[in-house]
Amino acid sequence: MRFEARKYPVLMIPGPSEPYPDALHIASLKVVKHYGKEWLEIYNHFYDLALKLFGADSGAIIPFPIPASFTMEVILNSLFEKGDNILFLNEGFFVRRFKETALRYGLKVHHVVPETPGHRVNLDEVKMLMDAEDIAGVVVVHSETSTGVLEDLDGISRVVGDDAILIVDSVSSYGALRMDVSRRGIDVCIGYASKALGALNGITPVYINDDIVGRLKDRKEFRGFLNDMKVWYEYREIWPFHPYPTTLPTQSIISFIKAAEMVLEEGLDRVEERHREVSSYVYKRLEEAGLEGYPESNARSPTVSVFRLEGVDADDVVNYLVDKYNIFIGTSKFAGYNGIRIGHMGYTASYRFVEPVITGIIEYLSKQRS
Ligand SMILES: Cc1ncc(COP(=O)(O)O)c(C=O)c1O
Repeated sequence: MRFEARKYPVLMIPGPSEPYPDALHIASLKVVKHYGKEWLEIYNHFYDLALKLFGADSGAIIPFPIPASFTMEVILNSLFEKGDNILFLNEGFFVRRFKETALRYGLKVHHVVPETPGHRVNLDEVKMLMDAEDIAGVVVVHSETSTGVLEDLDGISRVVGDDAILIVDSVSSYGALRMDVSRRGIDVCIGYASKALGALNGITPVYINDDIVGRLKDRKEFRGFLNDMKVWYEYREIWPFHPYPTTLPTQSIISFIKAAEMVLEEGLDRVEERHREVSSYVYKRLEEAGLEGYPESNARSPTVSVFRLEGVDADDVVNYLVDKYNIFIGTSKFAGYNGIRIGHMGYTASYRFVEPVITGIIEYLSKQRS
C-alpha cells in the first residue's frame, strides 16, 4: 500500500485538526532522544509553554504520552478513594465516557444535565447537589466536542470553590481559548496537542495545581505505576536527567512547541477572537441555509460547530464533501443523534478553510431540496 498524502481529505473534523504546516514540518527534521542536557532544554521550554497556555501562575505539568481519556483514568485513579462522590456536569459523549470510567474505579457518580440538550448546566442545581452531597471531585468538559457546547468555567468554578477538586477537560479548547486555570481555581486541567492547538498528537499535558502536587507528595502508598500521577510527579526528583518515568514522543513535543510559539506570538486573545469570529460566521451561514445549531446561541464552542439534521443523513453530507471537495467533516452519530460537526480549530480557524465547507453543505442541501 502506498501512502499518498495529497490524496487525503483536508481535516475539518473536530480533531485531529490540520496542524500548522510549520508544526508538522519541524517534527520530521530529526529524531532526538528524550533525555540528556540538550533535550532537557527543549523539554523545559515545552513545559513553560504548556503552563502559559493553561494560564497557570504555579503548579506543575504532567507530560502524558497517552490519549486524553486515558489521562482522565489516571487522574481518577490518583486522586480519589473508592466510594468518593464525583459530580459530572452536562451531557455528551465524552462526559459519559468519563462517568463510565469513574464507575469502573468504584467511585460514586452524580450527574447534573441541563433540561434542554445544547444548554449549559443550571448552576443553582449544581450548587444544590454540592450542598446535599459530600462531593470530592467535579468533572466538566469545557468544550464538549460531541455537542459543540462550551461550558461556563467561571460560573462552575465559583460554585465549586474549594469544596471539591475541579477537573476540567480542555481537550478541544486548549490553545485556542484562555484557560486561566489559576484565576479560576481549576485544580486539574487536561490539555491537548492535535485539536485547537494545531500540533501533532502524541503528548497530552495535564496541569495540576499546588494543592494537587501536595496531595500526591503526602500520599504514602502507590496506586499502580504509570497510572499513578504520584509516580509521574516523583520522577522529576528521582531522575532529573529524565524527569518522567517512560519514553516521551520528542517529535510530538517539538511540534507542540512550534504551535504554542505561534499561538503566543499571535497572542492568545487574538487567537480566541479568530476562533469566535469564524465560529459565528459558520453558524450564521448555515442557519441562514436552514440548519439548526445544536447548542443554544450563548453556549457555542468557538472551535467546533454542531448542527442537527432532519430529512438528510449526516453520512451523506460527509460523503458529498469528501467526494466533491476532498474535505472531511464529522458526524454526531457516535453521540446518538443525526448531526454534523465541523472543526475549525488552530490553523483551520480561518475563512479560507471554512468557506468551502459551507459552500459544499449548502450545495448538498439545495440539491436534496430541488
Ligand atoms: C472533549 C474531548 N474529551 C476527550 C476526548 C478524548 O480524547 P482521546 O481520544 O485522546 O482519548 C476527546 C476526543 O475527541 C474530546 O473531544
